[in-house]
Amino acid sequence: MDFILSPSILSADFGHLESDIAMLNNSEADWIHVDVMDGVFVPNISFGFPVMNMLKKTAQKPLDVHVMITQPDQYINHFAEQATSTLSVHYEACTHLHRTLNEIRNKGMKAGVALNPHTPVNLLEDIITEADMILVLSVNPGFGGQKFIEHSYQKIEKLKNLIIQKNSNAKIEVDGGVTLDNAAKLSKAGADILVAGNAVFNSAKPIETIRQFKAI
Ligand code: DX5
Ligand code: ZN
Repeated sequence: MDFILSPSILSADFGHLESDIAMLNNSEADWIHVDVMDGVFVPNISFGFPVMNMLKKTAQKPLDVHVMITQPDQYINHFAEQATSTLSVHYEACTHLHRTLNEIRNKGMKAGVALNPHTPVNLLEDIITEADMILVLSVNPGFGGQKFIEHSYQKIEKLKNLIIQKNSNAKIEVDGGVTLDNAAKLSKAGADILVAGNAVFNSAKPIETIRQFKAI
């Protein structure tokens, strides 16, 4: 099936991050998903710019950055400097989302909007044409390795319809609880990009697991 695979380094081994990035470089992974958390928007703190700087130097795939932070506007420049390809901000964190998305695009990045599981897709009606990507959280953000929320399929289908109806070019990314078992169903529902953390990094053979995802 024709989807982009974006392994999330939140589940990588931070004691050996360089070799995990080298593994992704040598794999069939398309992008690298980077989860930045501030401990306020979500109940966890992940990592920030020193790690991003290391990724900028070592990663050979586009950096797909998902910020779970309360004030993304303050850091758009910093992310642009760290070779971010797509920057996804949370709908729930942005009071002036239209301005934020335009600012991200002005800095040369693709602009994504992330939706928490409780946020309905119809709230995007008046902004969908300004976004390059919509990231559907299929778990409550903050941690890797959580169980996929089944209601997400319906949400993806609704979002796909909204994109068609509004003539938007936005791609749909699904993030949380993605596995080799649900990837085909997600792609069929309308997902263009799949994030996989636990499924890749907790596998005994991550390169082979990535190959299996891409062979679906
Ligand atoms: C959740 C993060 C996800 C996470 C996904 O807060 O946004 O990107 O790393 O991990 P898995 O695939 O293990 O659910
Ligand atoms: Zn994420």
